[in-house]
Amino acid sequence: MSIINSMNLHIEAKSQNESFARSVVASFFVQLNPTLEQIEDLKTAVSEAVTNCIVHAYDKAQQGEIVIACNLSEKEIEVKITDYGKGISNIEKAMQPFYTTGEEGERSGMGFTVMQAFCDDVSVVSENGSTTVTLVKKV
Ligand SMILES: Nc1ncnc2c1ncn2[C@@H]1O[C@H](COP(=O)(O)OP(=O)(O)OP(=O)(O)O)[C@@H](O)[C@H]1O
Ligand SMILES: [Mg+2]
Repeated sequence: MSIINSMNLHIEAKSQNESFARSVVASFFVQLNPTLEQIEDLKTAVSEAVTNCIVHAYDKAQQGEIVIACNLSEKEIEVKITDYGKGISNIEKAMQPFYTTGEEGERSGMGFTVMQAFCDDVSVVSENGSTTVTLVKKV
């Protein structure tokens, strides 16, 4: 599908930037005239992906960058969320419901499951020092 508009957002992996990032992506998505429900769905998924970069990709001490690249085509948005943190060695396992490496009781292991429930497609690539989660939401 041909791309009609695109934007890139570079942010520090800080929890203060999570709601900022999801709002920016939602504002960009509005150009496709999505329903309120579609906007909320995308915000929820972006929030999960960005939170994963903040809590899993980087150490609490050593922070890094998150790059969010959005491409719009006539009928959908593609959102690529990339970090340069520790990576995911077993993606299939990481995406299973309730799987978490988070501290006891801290996380539920449902982030990827939520992304899949609220988007039309979710894919993950982790290699050569970067991890990219790609979300697709159709209008
Ligand atoms: N960007 C990332 N970099 C490194 N590891 C990641 C990244 N995203 C996810 N993971 C790994 O995948 C696991 C599953 O992620 P998922 O979002 O489904 O659950 P969670 O973050 O552990 O819990 P929840 O999202 O419910 O709070 C994480 O526990 C973590 O080990
Ligand atoms: Mg998560």
